[in-house]
Amino acid sequence: MSLGRSLFRVTLLSAAAMLFAPAPASAQAMLQPPPKAMPANPTVDQNDWWKRSVIYEVYPRSFADSNNDGIGDIQGITRHLDYIQSLGADAIWMTPMFPSPQADFGYDVADYDNVDPQFGTVADVDQLVAQGKTRGVKLLLDFVVNHTSDQHPWFQQSKSSRTNPYRDFYVWHDPKPDGSPPNNWASIFGGSAWTLDPVTKQYYYHFFYPQQPDLNWRNPKVEKAMFDAAEWWLKRGVYGYRLDAVDTMFERTDLKDNKVYPGVDAFGVPNQDHVNNSKQPEVHTELQRLRQMVIDKYPGRILVGETWTSDAQELVQYYGPRNNELQLPMFLNLISLPGLTAPDLRQRITGVETNSVGGWPSFALSNHDSRRVASRYPVPAGASTDDWAKITGALLLTLRGTPVLYYGEELGMVNNDPQRIEDVQDVIGKKGWPKEKGRDGERTPMQWDASANAGFNAGAKPWLPVAPDYKTRNVAAESADPHSVLNFYRTLIALRRTHPAMAGDWKAVDTDDRQVLAYQRSGGGKTVLVLLNLDAKPADVPIEKTQTMEVLQPLAVNRALLISGRVHLDPLGVYVAEITPIP
Ligand code: GLC
Ligand code: CA
Repeated sequence: MSLGRSLFRVTLLSAAAMLFAPAPASAQAMLQPPPKAMPANPTVDQNDWWKRSVIYEVYPRSFADSNNDGIGDIQGITRHLDYIQSLGADAIWMTPMFPSPQADFGYDVADYDNVDPQFGTVADVDQLVAQGKTRGVKLLLDFVVNHTSDQHPWFQQSKSSRTNPYRDFYVWHDPKPDGSPPNNWASIFGGSAWTLDPVTKQYYYHFFYPQQPDLNWRNPKVEKAMFDAAEWWLKRGVYGYRLDAVDTMFERTDLKDNKVYPGVDAFGVPNQDHVNNSKQPEVHTELQRLRQMVIDKYPGRILVGETWTSDAQELVQYYGPRNNELQLPMFLNLISLPGLTAPDLRQRITGVETNSVGGWPSFALSNHDSRRVASRYPVPAGASTDDWAKITGALLLTLRGTPVLYYGEELGMVNNDPQRIEDVQDVIGKKGWPKEKGRDGERTPMQWDASANAGFNAGAKPWLPVAPDYKTRNVAAESADPHSVLNFYRTLIALRRTHPAMAGDWKAVDTDDRQVLAYQRSGGGKTVLVLLNLDAKPADVPIEKTQTMEVLQPLAVNRALLISGRVHLDPLGVYVAEITPIP
């Protein structure tokens, strides 16, 4: 097989072919020590700082509780900035901390220009920005664009009468003649997407809970009010936004019914395709206006998108035709895969890599709405949840682009799902039990140390129970263990910052292999080879020497070993190595 211009040849053989190969003495032997201190990000002060950065998602409710009331808060995050810096994260995306009745734990905003007292104050955000600045850690907020809380003053006005000036801030329609909702659109959080207001006798529309009425972005006053809110925080030193649920911002004005499919969702509602109330073309016009009229006025500010797309073709629309929309539409498609296989990943990553506008990739493997990656897939015999955490971490951190890392993934935190409906906090879990258990399991308190409540607070009952593995799976214990998931992450993040190849191109190698995902990163005259055995079987990768043959300098390794001309990978084995030319 020819690898074109590459300096070496790699042929991946199936496990069966290598049955009689001698087993490696110790697959851990070549693990590199973690860095003592995280090297500085070389682009920290540039306007494209985000291209070499790692974005760390913090769910404030669950990260650290500074005043011991059971709920994490902004001061808790500020107290742990040293940790975030030591991890090598360059920016925090903090999920909503605005005043909110918390029907959807903050994704129901009652005031965009303020902070919910349970999370702190505006001064606390200012302090987080200032303290972050001294550590090279920027702050991104979560901008909930599709809807507000039903307690937002705009909605309170809007529902007060049909003639109120705020009426058109939301989407109101008359009932059908029989009194039923205007059409068949279902909320993805259960039931109809329409709720009747008994006073004004019209239905209002909500893609999510009834407590989250959709804003009417066709009203220029909504745009103005929302753009002002976005700018308000930029002026305070916030570096941009993760935009929530962007594909739901617009819906068809003719209210065409969605096509219904056989079967029902977790809430008992017939399945439907949502084509008429999501992913409308107006979304892109509006996001481009937000970029141009607000974000681009402030140097270095960015928009990250919660962009659930079915493939890279759909993703490309969110970059905008001239890269004038979102800098970082997250490619979330890898999260929805039923399993992680080399062919699926290769195809999807290649799709993002070759996107037609040359948009900068941004991958995420988990977030506050998805199962923790270490507990998402079956663990092969002989491997562990740590191994899943490491191989997925290696994937996320060695791809080109900007990874978005959910808090606790760097420890290999696992889901701690509620066992009884009485214990569920997330309303979709209460409504959909047991088919839909909600998102509590992936939102449990960050595990700092082995003390009570994992160091989340000083002993008050946390809003969600700490996962039982916290005594060993925590920042303190893993910092001290050179083989921990945390130190593996640190090694890879340091590599991203220092190795010129990690700032360069991405190219798949051995594109037919069904077991091992192999790729090269190349830049600055250097090349790094990444081998990920995603299978439950071992694999051997012969490194065939040629005239210009290379030496493999291992940079990060787990369950893999270089043995005379081949790399042996155990199930979920990872091998990241520099390939250096022989003079
Ligand atoms: C996004 C958020 C999710 C929230 C929903 C409604 O998907 O990530 O947590 O429930 O939007 O705002
Ligand atoms: Ca608190």
